[in-house]
Amino acid sequence: MTAPIFRKFAQPQLSEASIQAVADVLRSNWITTGPKVTELEQALSHTFGNRPTRLVTSATGAMEIALALCDIGEGDEVITSAQSFFSAMNMIVKCGARPVFVDCDLVTRAIDLAQVEAAITPQTKVIMPTHFPGALGDMDALYALAKRYKLRVIEDAALVQGSKWQGKPVGAFGDIATFSFHPNKNMTTIEGGAIVVNNEAEAQRVDILRFHGISKLPDQTRDVVEASGKFNMSDVSAVIGLHQLAQFDTFMAQRQVLAERYFERFPQLPGVVLPPNGQSGQTDQTWNMFCVLIPYENFGHTRTSFRNALNEAGIGTGISYEACHLTTVARHYGYREGMFPNAERIARETVTLPLHVGLTLGDVDEICGVVGKVLAG
Ligand SMILES: Cc1ncc(COP(=O)(O)O)c(C=O)c1O
Repeated sequence: MTAPIFRKFAQPQLSEASIQAVADVLRSNWITTGPKVTELEQALSHTFGNRPTRLVTSATGAMEIALALCDIGEGDEVITSAQSFFSAMNMIVKCGARPVFVDCDLVTRAIDLAQVEAAITPQTKVIMPTHFPGALGDMDALYALAKRYKLRVIEDAALVQGSKWQGKPVGAFGDIATFSFHPNKNMTTIEGGAIVVNNEAEAQRVDILRFHGISKLPDQTRDVVEASGKFNMSDVSAVIGLHQLAQFDTFMAQRQVLAERYFERFPQLPGVVLPPNGQSGQTDQTWNMFCVLIPYENFGHTRTSFRNALNEAGIGTGISYEACHLTTVARHYGYREGMFPNAERIARETVTLPLHVGLTLGDVDEICGVVGKVLAG
């Protein structure tokens, strides 16, 4: 019998006030996109240096819209990291472009800019890096490269809402950034995402793209100006987001304390790689996940047996992430084992340990103790 998982690796914290606010929206007779969405967009925009911000139904949807905004399609190439969640790859493929993978740093998981530069061809239109908790890549170098080759950048910032580069929050600088409000993320709207763009013209195009490509005509009839899907967030979701945003700084401070405890108490074991902790003097980082790399075989384990042992002790874990270039979809483009060693090692060795605001320092101590015991055999 498996013990119940009382410590999931991620778990949202929904206040009673937010539950009450949902009931109020449900009673208001306006439950889909309305005033709460506008209010949350404005509040989020404020956190992104007042850049135009639009809510959508997921970060994946935000990426689909971002690629359309950059006019990406058949014949175009988009450079992205082999180590990420599948969304970027999927949306690149779905819009008809070619995903061009490159490797990432083993510790920060930031996209390898030398490999990005080497992969640029006349067909390249966009660089799509993913940010991971603990340290951002070199944003100045990334944007200098993009400028040199006249490329757009779509930052997958799903995991790093609130993280800063030289004092500026991700989203408050650069080109396009996309965020996720899935329950595992730094704040949640149940499902949801945001896209931060450069100017009002782009924001207005997002308004069209997120709702069937519809544009209203002066006589109040509608035209479809570009074929698009439906990505509009409901007020029910947005009101949860407003309450989450009000607690955001508290949530991040709690996550920071828990991450610091992991760094203090995680058993020192040969070959184990911890996430970056304020690398390159970057201190303003938020902690969405705590992922470690473990050479399981050295400890007489496989990742599955290790995860099962933690599961038996009531500790939920995850895998963040498999290597995108080794998925069936990517293999159709000729990608194979051995092409991106860091992404592949991360994919083999990574395990996501519990990190959410429902945890106590005692929980982290216990998790670190169980990890030590399991690996000690
Ligand atoms: C790095 C990264 N990007 C994108 C996504 C997709 O987010 P969503 O579920 O909001 O589409 C995720 C989800 O886990 C993610 O981890």
